[in-house]
Amino acid sequence: MNPSSFFKPLHLGSITLPNRIVMAPLTRMRAGAGNAPTELNALYYAQRASAGLIITEGTAVSQQGQGYPNAPGIYTREQVDGWKKVTRAVHERGGRIILQLAHNGRNSHSSFMPDGGVPVAPSSIPSNLPGFTRDFQKVPIESPRELTVPEIREIIESFASAARNAMEAGFDGVELQGANSHLIDQFLEDGSNQRTDSYGGSISNRMRFLFEIVENVSAVTSSQKLGVRLSPFGQYGGIQDSDPMQLFTSVIEEMNKYDLAYLHLIEGRGSEIGLGDDLHLDALNNARIFRPHYKGNLISAAAYTPATGHEALVSGYADAIAYGRLFISNPDLVERIADGVALNAYDRSTFYGGDERGYTDYRAFDESSTLAKQ
Ligand SMILES: Cc1cc2nc3c(=O)[nH]c(=O)nc-3n(C[C@H](O)[C@H](O)[C@H](O)COP(=O)(O)O)c2cc1C
Repeated sequence: MNPSSFFKPLHLGSITLPNRIVMAPLTRMRAGAGNAPTELNALYYAQRASAGLIITEGTAVSQQGQGYPNAPGIYTREQVDGWKKVTRAVHERGGRIILQLAHNGRNSHSSFMPDGGVPVAPSSIPSNLPGFTRDFQKVPIESPRELTVPEIREIIESFASAARNAMEAGFDGVELQGANSHLIDQFLEDGSNQRTDSYGGSISNRMRFLFEIVENVSAVTSSQKLGVRLSPFGQYGGIQDSDPMQLFTSVIEEMNKYDLAYLHLIEGRGSEIGLGDDLHLDALNNARIFRPHYKGNLISAAAYTPATGHEALVSGYADAIAYGRLFISNPDLVERIADGVALNAYDRSTFYGGDERGYTDYRAFDESSTLAKQ
């Protein structure tokens, strides 16, 4: 494979990428005390600074938005100071980094809630995931509590305030976690949103929460520094919609009005839904389906190899490719793709939680070959 298409610079809103190999957001559950990033987290991201763009792990906009043990937040002074270490380290290595703003909604546990009550959601419908307590005990999932309209407005404001903190911490932009059954996705899809007020019912009502956040966050960062991640047809956490094609077409067409930095799509699996014959692919190609509906830049993620990612760029279905697991085990993924060298395998057992093992000790190719020569 001649990887040249990966190395054409790309303007994503106000951010210029020297290459189109993006590090996907990856929750690693290794933040320090008070959910604040540490020097270890700074080293991990700095090792990956040659990515065209780093998108951080999902980061809670408030204590109520937390849902994973030792996941970072961006709502306290210590957390903002911790993230400054990360952005400084990445920028010193010549990289670009944006923060993924997340609220877990129903995918959480009462031990994370500031009031000790059950987690919150558009409607009182539980996910099908196991629950995890703050100290990582697996427990039955709790039924969430339906949010009131004033509470919804507070959450929208918490996204704006988190974006303000992200700018102060030195990020080049922010991404909204609208994918994978997080709170924004819970509002979008009618399997989890059965409200009868202005935030539920019709597609335009279910989209209201997302676009009020888009408006409030872009007032802080500018729309050119804001991306949105979506996972059409995804079924993680039991999320589902009665008409996902119509829902996500409407959401993506509405995004055209906001001049955002990018749309970031996760691929679903063809086996998950029954669409027309030509759409029954091994990996259902969301980029292919939704590219015609979006006027801006599109980042496509999930299960790409260097070769299939390059194909997606050449075909014009995506402007950049996000790699998750391959970036975990290959800090120098960009150099490896450029030089066509073999990739390190990843170790699933160290994805979530723990220390530097499986986090900052994957070797760059140069280091491995130096060792091999000794
Ligand atoms: C360990 C792990 C943590 C993840 N955490 C997040 C996250 O915080 N936010 C998010 O949007 N997606 C998250 N994802 C999904 C990835 O961003 C990506 O879409 C997925 O891994 C598929 O891409 P890949 O095949 O290149 O790994 C995570 C995936 C993994 C494996």
